Amino acid sequence: MAKVLKAGVDAGNNSLKLAVQDQEPMIIPTSYYLYVGESSDQFTSEQEDIPPKELIDNIDVTITSAAISTNGMRHIVGRKILTDNLKSTELEKQSDKSTDDIPVIVALSGLAVSAMKQQPDKDTLRVNYDIGLALPIATITPEAAARQAERFTGTHTVVYHHPSGRSVTVHIMIEYAKCLPEGAAAAWGIVYNQKGELAKRKVEVGNQVASRTMEDKTLLVYDIGAGTTEKVVLHGVKFLPKQSSGLNYGSKETLMEVQAIWNHQNPRNTIDTMVEFEDIFFDSEHPRHNSLVQLAKPALLQLSNQLSTDIINKIDDMKDDPFVFVIGGGAAVLKDTLHATLNKKGRTTNVTFVQRPLFANATGLLVYALSPRFQALKDKDLGVAANAEKAK
Ligand SMILES: Nc1ncnc2c1ncn2[C@@H]1O[C@H](COP(=O)(O)OP(=O)(O)OP(=O)(O)O)[C@@H](O)[C@H]1O
Ligand SMILES: [Mg+2]
Repeated sequence: MAKVLKAGVDAGNNSLKLAVQDQEPMIIPTSYYLYVGESSDQFTSEQEDIPPKELIDNIDVTITSAAISTNGMRHIVGRKILTDNLKSTELEKQSDKSTDDIPVIVALSGLAVSAMKQQPDKDTLRVNYDIGLALPIATITPEAAARQAERFTGTHTVVYHHPSGRSVTVHIMIEYAKCLPEGAAAAWGIVYNQKGELAKRKVEVGNQVASRTMEDKTLLVYDIGAGTTEKVVLHGVKFLPKQSSGLNYGSKETLMEVQAIWNHQNPRNTIDTMVEFEDIFFDSEHPRHNSLVQLAKPALLQLSNQLSTDIINKIDDMKDDPFVFVIGGGAAVLKDTLHATLNKKGRTTNVTFVQRPLFANATGLLVYALSPRFQALKDKDLGVAANAEKAK
């Protein structure tokens, strides 16, 4: 039987976060451009293959998949759009992630790159995956979750075009997919580690710091995304839908406001995309970093105030004191201001800003895909007999 790789696929409004078993997590901006051809001859014979590490930033792929309306077409995906200065298609604010093409296009590109990184010299690859997926609280229903899992399941082909002219064909077989609410996905990575063991987390008990496992605790996962913010209540990894809710905004709108102000003030040095904005904002050595961070301060403080009020109200509405975990890329942007605001109000007890908040959902989904519960669902849905048959 082909080895099945487990992966967590968190297709966000702003970027796809992909956590594949035994690999460093990857990130791809959520955008694509349909390749229309070259307007001049390129000296392809002088161009080399893209080295494995840079594959992710140079995605130029033909995707054959029944799950997308651009089936069979060539797509430029993610960061390469910025480098090539192309106009991109992105997710609309009110998009439905379970029907839109973009999450599939970006996810398949990522899964293909992940396979190519393992065997960069091969021209044809076959790879089997089991994947965990996620949808926002506000839009997830049993039907939407099933639809999302179903369209990913099955075979897809991704042909990666190197500038040298060499093409690599990756046959991706997604054996089984399951979709959780965003935020609830992250709880799997908070409660368990990738080996399925209970993770020990540091908590405050009175004035002491102690180590505790979280499988039987009330958790509030606060996921600040680009387009949505999830407030997810769980008992361990058990999702409590009645107490959970979502806000239909995240950090992107605020960052775009800052971008507009920057462009108004710097008409000669405009910032044209979110990727470019992030390149400046998250790189302290970028020559424009300090000015941009300075300019963004009031807007971020405003958003932090808004969200800290929301977090505090949420905690107060809950019967039990929850352990709060703040995740999502928004948590990275807002950490300092949000922490300061909560601190000023004396509300930081058992509020954890997790490490690598951007990848919390993706790594949680990977832990879920590795779990015995996922395997049991797979056996039930596909039939244990069918799996045993394949194992022969
Ligand atoms: N290292 C980073 N690189 C890029 N963006 C980052 C980084 N850290 C934080 N961000 C910012 O975090 C914000 C939210 O990102 P995140 O990836 O959590 O959103 P998303 O999952 O794409 O969106 P959603 O969950 O709403 O669908 C973005 O506005 C982005 O600018
Ligand atoms: Mg997200």
